[in-house]
Amino acid sequence: MSVGRSTVSRNAFFAPGRHGDCDAEPGLIDFAVNVQPGPPSFVAEALRSRIDGLAAYPTDDDERRALTAVAAAHGRTVDEVLLLEGAAEGFEVLARLRPRHVALIEPSFTEPERVLRAAGARCTSVTLAPPWRVSQARVPDDADLVIVGNPTNPTSVLHPRAEILALRRPGRLVVVDEAFADLTLDPDSGVREPESLAGMLPDGVIVIRSITKTFGLAGLRAGYLLAAPETIARLSAGRRHWPLGTLALTALAACVGPVGERYAADLAVRIAEDRTHLVESLRAAGPAEAGLEVTAEPRAPYVLIRVPDGLALKEALRTRGFGVRSCANFTGLGPEYLRLAVRSPDRSAALVRAVQDVLETEGDRS
Ligand SMILES: Cc1ncc(COP(=O)(O)O)c(C=O)c1O
Repeated sequence: MSVGRSTVSRNAFFAPGRHGDCDAEPGLIDFAVNVQPGPPSFVAEALRSRIDGLAAYPTDDDERRALTAVAAAHGRTVDEVLLLEGAAEGFEVLARLRPRHVALIEPSFTEPERVLRAAGARCTSVTLAPPWRVSQARVPDDADLVIVGNPTNPTSVLHPRAEILALRRPGRLVVVDEAFADLTLDPDSGVREPESLAGMLPDGVIVIRSITKTFGLAGLRAGYLLAAPETIARLSAGRRHWPLGTLALTALAACVGPVGERYAADLAVRIAEDRTHLVESLRAAGPAEAGLEVTAEPRAPYVLIRVPDGLALKEALRTRGFGVRSCANFTGLGPEYLRLAVRSPDRSAALVRAVQDVLETEGDRS
C-alpha cells in the first residue's frame, strides 16, 4: 500500500468542523474512526428481512417494538424514551428546550456545540485540564443545560457518575452523551457500564445513546435519548411524522435486545483486552526522550496519545499506511494529541512498530 504525500495544509487540522473520518483515507489501515466493524450478521439479517417492505411507511408496531426494546434494556418506561436518527440528532433536539445558557464540558465531541450555536443558544466551553476530571469543571451558575460525554471522546476518560450528578442544580438539565458507554467495563469486577446513568435516570438528567459505534451502523443513523416523560414531550413537540425509517427502527430493536446485549458484552471484553495490549505496547514503544505519552486511563474503545509533534507523527504514520485521528481541532487539546482506535492485537502491533520506527528515525535525526 502506498499513499502520496499529504496535500492537506497543517491549518486544515485546526478547523472546528473537521471530522475524524477524513483521517481514514482509502488504502490506510484505519485507526482514526471510532466505529467497530459491522454490522453483525444478526443485525444484517433483520435489516434484510425488511427491504422488500420499504414501499410502506414505518408502522406503529415498528416504532413500538423499538421503544419497548430500548425501555426494557435500561429498565425504563416507553414514555422516558425518544428514538433518534443517531445520537447526533439528540443534540439538535435539545434546542427545543430553549436553553438560556449551555455549558459544554470539553475537550469533547464538537457536534453539540456546533448544532446548539447554530440554533442560537448561548454556549460556554468549560475546558478541563489533563487528566480531564469533571469534578474540576467550573460550570457557570446560570447554565441551565450542561453537556458532558461519558466516556468522553476523544480523551477516553470515564467519569464517575457521582461527579456527573454533582453538576446538577435546580432548573438545570445535565445531558450525558453515552455514545460509547455500552463498551465500558469495570476493570476489577468486569461489570458492564459501571458509570452509566441510563438505568437510574435520576432527576435532571438526560442520557443520549448510540447504536452506530458498537454495531458498525454509522451509515444507518439510529440512537435514542432517555429523559423524564415531561422532558421527552418537550423534545418531541412538533417533530415530523416517521422521524426514523423502518430499517433504523428494526436495527434499534435488534441491537438493544438480548442478542445485541450479548454481542456488546462480548465485544466490551475483547476491546478491554485489546486496549490493554495497545496501551502496554505503546508505553514500551519509544525511547522516553521521544516523549510519547498515553494520556489518562483510557476506558473507551480508543486511546489518546500525546507527542511533541502530533501532526508530524500523523503524517509519518500515513506514509507508512496508517490513518490516525488528529485532535488539533478539539477545544482544550491541540496538535500534540492523536486518537487511536482500539483494533485487533496484530493491527495494533503493526501500528506500534510503525510508531517506534518513526520515533527512532526522528531521534536519530535530532
Ligand atoms: C461522543 C460522540 N457522541 C455522539 C456521536 C454521534 O453518534 P451517532 O452516530 O449515533 O449520531 C459521536 C460520533 O462521532 C460521538 O463521537
